[in-house]
Amino acid sequence: MNDLNQSTLDQPKVVGQRTPRIDGEFKLTGRAGYTGELSVEGMLYGYPVAATIAHGTLERLELDEALAMPGVVDIFHHANFPRLHRSPNSMGHGDQVSEVRLPFEDERIYYHGQYVALVVAESFAQARAAAQRVVARYRQEAGAISSLLDGAHDSHSEGELLKDAGTRRGDPEAAFDGAAVKVDAVYHIAAESHLQMEMHATLAEWRDGGSRLVVHESSQGVFYQRNAMARIFDLAQENIEVISHYIGSGFGNKLFMWPHAVAAAGAARELGRPLKLVLPRPQDMTSGGNRPASRQRLRLGADRDGRLSAVIHDSTTETSLVDRYVDACGSATPSFYACDNLAVSQRILALNHGTPCPMRAPGEVSGIFALETAMDELAVALQMDPVELRLRNYAHKDPESGLPWSSKQLDKCLHSAAERFGWAQRDPGIGAMRDGDEIIGYGMAACTWFAGRQPCQARVELRADGTLFAACGTQDIGTGTYTIVAQTVAELTGVALADIEVKLGETSLPAGPLSGGSMATATTLPAVAAAVRDALGALKEVATGHGGVFAGCDADSLTVAEGTLSDGERSYRFAEVLEAMRLSSVNGQGSSAPGEEKKQYSFRSFGAHFVEVRVDPGISRVRVSRVVSSMDIGRAINPPTARNQVEGGIVMGIGMGLFEKLDYDPRDARLINANVADYIVPVHADIPEIDVELLDYPDFKFNEFGARGVGEIGLTGIAPAISNALYHATGKRYRDLPVTIEALL
Ligand code: MOS
Repeated sequence: MNDLNQSTLDQPKVVGQRTPRIDGEFKLTGRAGYTGELSVEGMLYGYPVAATIAHGTLERLELDEALAMPGVVDIFHHANFPRLHRSPNSMGHGDQVSEVRLPFEDERIYYHGQYVALVVAESFAQARAAAQRVVARYRQEAGAISSLLDGAHDSHSEGELLKDAGTRRGDPEAAFDGAAVKVDAVYHIAAESHLQMEMHATLAEWRDGGSRLVVHESSQGVFYQRNAMARIFDLAQENIEVISHYIGSGFGNKLFMWPHAVAAAGAARELGRPLKLVLPRPQDMTSGGNRPASRQRLRLGADRDGRLSAVIHDSTTETSLVDRYVDACGSATPSFYACDNLAVSQRILALNHGTPCPMRAPGEVSGIFALETAMDELAVALQMDPVELRLRNYAHKDPESGLPWSSKQLDKCLHSAAERFGWAQRDPGIGAMRDGDEIIGYGMAACTWFAGRQPCQARVELRADGTLFAACGTQDIGTGTYTIVAQTVAELTGVALADIEVKLGETSLPAGPLSGGSMATATTLPAVAAAVRDALGALKEVATGHGGVFAGCDADSLTVAEGTLSDGERSYRFAEVLEAMRLSSVNGQGSSAPGEEKKQYSFRSFGAHFVEVRVDPGISRVRVSRVVSSMDIGRAINPPTARNQVEGGIVMGIGMGLFEKLDYDPRDARLINANVADYIVPVHADIPEIDVELLDYPDFKFNEFGARGVGEIGLTGIAPAISNALYHATGKRYRDLPVTIEALL
């Protein structure tokens, strides 16, 4: 009999198989409670009042009319909000926040949308109505800094050079100067909104006379929020519980806590009643994070055969005046192509905008747009097939660390996607491919995302009722974490998925990782597996102990299959083993963390996107008409949800390429389109046939599951594949995103 407990997972039965989401029915029938839908006895509602200027001072709040409105309980602002402690912006301590400035901390206005007051009332409608009657008087100042896109060439907009953020090898400037073929171009990407379906939401409740805080938050990192709240409210971490069971997505804007949660918890404590705050969409967009705009200069030098001799990648990204967010555009560049001479630099420029934060494939997606567009420009200059140019500069080991790749199949991605797309039928002439009124353009780009792991703990319980329970304090942000945890337990025990219960998203559970950085799968599953093995070990002890079903046997000789323990002749279901000893359950603990493998290998996922666009020049219309992609992500634990992540990334990439742009008024730095009507995202009609292939090369050097993670890579490389296809169609190089209809005219 095959012993599941000892399985090396190289021939898995459940892992890697199409598995319907275990929480799917729960969500579809409305039983899954999202933060904004929860209510508790005696709960109040908060509604923020947000600054309508971006630069100046709050002079006065006129509150009398609002305070007199029905149901209004109180209004908090600078003069009456409790004084709290700041939590530092330090990832290392696990208490990072998205914006270090506390709500209502001073009366300066740093950005449009900054909270100036919080109205609290008995109902949501009452709070909102009263918030609209609060009158704020400002002293607006001239000179708001609005966009790094506007003042691209004056010295002020250069930003602050981050000394620690760059990297260098060889002599890139000399190599560039001496290169036979050069590209030197500047790329701009507009700020984008995460526009996740569920807006930021907090439900804060103080218990035990105000000594304990329970917070429901739509969060990608309950432990980070707990730790930050402990700092801010000066409480022991064990006196705070943060819960996030179901999340209507987060694309990085829910990794770290925002001031609205502090406002909600502070007001709840002052009033001695639970309080719920769901950000209205405009404030979610002004004050709940965004992908910052970027300006990048890319210099590529190559010989006549297309071999890169120099790569110089200089980036400037926006931050706010109240925090220092760095969107590291150049972070993938040093590892992408083989090149001995390379420099990457990073600057940040503080603007009167809401604080930016990570947004799906942060930094790298912007950097890869510049790099992969520049590579296409180089291919044109060389009159070389862009696929061939990439193969010629293939990095067979990580050029930055010098380490071998754990597993890299980019060449297979390029070949497979090119084949399925029909790249060989491309006529490389500009505008050479037509269909009626439409010009057809073909474009491609390679893509990548790093693979990382974090420390993680998990707990597993085998129960006498025949069920299994697995718990980990990570979150399922909609990507399918509940399901892959259950698959892991099923794989190692042979118990049916229907008999496995998974609990995630609570700080009362063993500490789990952020749901971010495409790291949750590779981080969580090894800890869950360790906990399963520990629980099975405990079960074997029970079975072989005095009075046990295998009393006197050697525990190590027992094997596990299909929810049973066996000695080769007799087998007993787990429940029978427990029943025999009158035990309700046995427990197992497990943990995992990145280890020695980090010193031996470099871990990255790679992929390739091929895009067809159709441009109708008569009516200035552009359509993405086909996308064909191949991804090398290690093993997909649940192929449909993994493919769904890549498809979602591609849709977001079409938005980045053609539609999405936070529009700031250059005169006063106000965000003009902080609503879903004016912020344009792709709709179904904009989405073509998407053909995603997941190559199956399990990366066992990374973890026993062979999974590297899949949340972000699909987005990288789409925008440059679109702009490269537009060049092929029109002969015009599009270096600014989004490529709007106006730009095509
Ligand atoms: Mo992602 S930006 O790590 O949620």
